[in-house]
Amino acid sequence: MGSVMVRRLLERGHRVCVFDNLSTGFRGFVPQKAVFFRGDLRHEPHVREFFKRYRVDAVMHFAASCLVGESVANPLKYYENNVSGSANLLHHMCRAKVKNLIISSTCATYGQPRQVPIVETAPTCPANPYGISKLMVERMVETLALTGQVRYVSLRYFNAAGSDGLGGIGEKHDPETHLIPNIFKAINGLSRRLEIFGDDYPTPDGTCVRDYIHVEDLARAHLLALEALTGGKVRNEVFNLGSEKGFSVLEIVRKAQEITGREVPCKICPRRPGDPARLIACAAKAKRVLGWRSLCGLDRILTTAWAWENFLARHRLD
Ligand code: UFG
Repeated sequence: MGSVMVRRLLERGHRVCVFDNLSTGFRGFVPQKAVFFRGDLRHEPHVREFFKRYRVDAVMHFAASCLVGESVANPLKYYENNVSGSANLLHHMCRAKVKNLIISSTCATYGQPRQVPIVETAPTCPANPYGISKLMVERMVETLALTGQVRYVSLRYFNAAGSDGLGGIGEKHDPETHLIPNIFKAINGLSRRLEIFGDDYPTPDGTCVRDYIHVEDLARAHLLALEALTGGKVRNEVFNLGSEKGFSVLEIVRKAQEITGREVPCKICPRRPGDPARLIACAAKAKRVLGWRSLCGLDRILTTAWAWENFLARHRLD
């Protein structure tokens, strides 16, 4: 998401400094027009040096570990990387008197929702350490905002998906755990089959329902949020970013088969711990306040993700 955003910001005429430890990102995704600083948020001197070297007007904070299953197995990784890393960032933002902050948050902060679509005022009761760590970051930012040290917009993404149609930037994780890339890996024979985690959920076909949102839509929301924040139109707000449409795992599989004309080899497996049955956003607030809504449907998500998987199959990334 950060890589996609850098391109959009440059296109809009912003100057961009990228801070990344490249633990899950790729140097090749950083355009030449952006400054690159290799650093780790957990390492305080790196953050100090960054703010000493560059005059920053606004921070967009994407860096996080973000796998639900891994967070259950290794919660401290999440508290260290997501929470301590963010604390270092906030500390040095405050020291450098950088006030504007956009943070990437997640619908995992809600946990098992009592009602869908989920509104921003719904209770936050995360069901896994990933969600807890992101909620802790939101809480830290909120408390700093109370004293006027930062002003923020927190963007709670639903299921980010698709690849950047213009720049050709998509997802590449090791291991890959996300549904859509896993479907295409099964189609391309890079895995034996797609494992479907549970078909006994209280949903129409028994598989989990998610709200998939294209990275281009997410990037547009960040730009609007940045302009609203720096222009004084919004201050200290949380927004859901989703398409407001839910699709089950089986619906996504069927749509991927339709788009590619290929069969997805599948196997029904046990539920994956920590998976809520249904997550669908109410994005009315983002529409009302930021003038944002999702423009890319499931077809575009799957078409661009498929193009990206095929690109990946042919190229090496550094
Ligand atoms: N799924 C499968 N097989 C797979 C992968 C996923 O059946 O190989 C299912 C999952 O069980 C889930 C759905 O497909 O029901 C979507 O799973 P993803 O792993 O693609 O996405 P998640 O909903 O688990 O996670 C995403 C983001 C997280 C975020 C979370 C909020 O990746 O960062 O949404 O719930 F926190």
